[in-house]
Amino acid sequence: MEKRQMIIAPSILSADFGHLEEEIQAVEKAGADWIHVDVMDGHFVPNITLGPVVVEGIRKCTNLPIDVHLMIESPERYIKAFKDAGADLISVHVEACTHLQRTLALIKEAGAKPGVVLNPATSLYALDYIWQDIEMILLMTVNPGFGGQVFIPSMMEKIRTARKKADRENPNIHIQVDGGVQASNILDLKKAGANVFVSGSAIFNSDNYEMTIKTMKTNLDQ
Ligand code: DX5
Ligand code: ZN
Repeated sequence: MEKRQMIIAPSILSADFGHLEEEIQAVEKAGADWIHVDVMDGHFVPNITLGPVVVEGIRKCTNLPIDVHLMIESPERYIKAFKDAGADLISVHVEACTHLQRTLALIKEAGAKPGVVLNPATSLYALDYIWQDIEMILLMTVNPGFGGQVFIPSMMEKIRTARKKADRENPNIHIQVDGGVQASNILDLKKAGANVFVSGSAIFNSDNYEMTIKTMKTNLDQ
């Protein structure tokens, strides 16, 4: 089988928003593969972040794929706006969509890659009838809403099971992990079956982005 691509996606949630352009260019230079953008509405999660205008701004400062993680209720209302702003991948939470399959089709129609997100307590059974509608599964490894939380250990087994199911149902799918991802646990996450690693505080709170991303990549090579 072809070797699966390992992708580091820094989450700008932990970046300095007063210097967003410099921060994005710094992680790009440091070896980031995608830019992960966390959109929160203060309803689905207890925090508020940013909307399409900020994504439009980000689009102007990088050519890297923009990976938009929507932590908002009824995300179908904003798919087109985020795609038009420059999103390449758009992921929606199972828990926030009444008509999930319709919303995923909408993302595809808009021309973005559809992803589906599961909160830590949401079962993988939620994926049973949508395997062909998605290009990425995002497994939350913390409860969404904030950066800098601790990885929930029971998620390791969930990643393993998700990879087994994905190998059967849609082997090219990306398995992304988000929350508490660091250089120290990244190899275990890869071994469990993840191949897209979102990391916010571990990168943006470090003194040297390049060294942190390089260490993550070196650890993934083992
Ligand atoms: C949390 C967000 C994450 C967050 C991860 O709701 O989805 O993307 O930025 O932050 P860290 O890597 O600090 O756990
Ligand atoms: Zn995220």
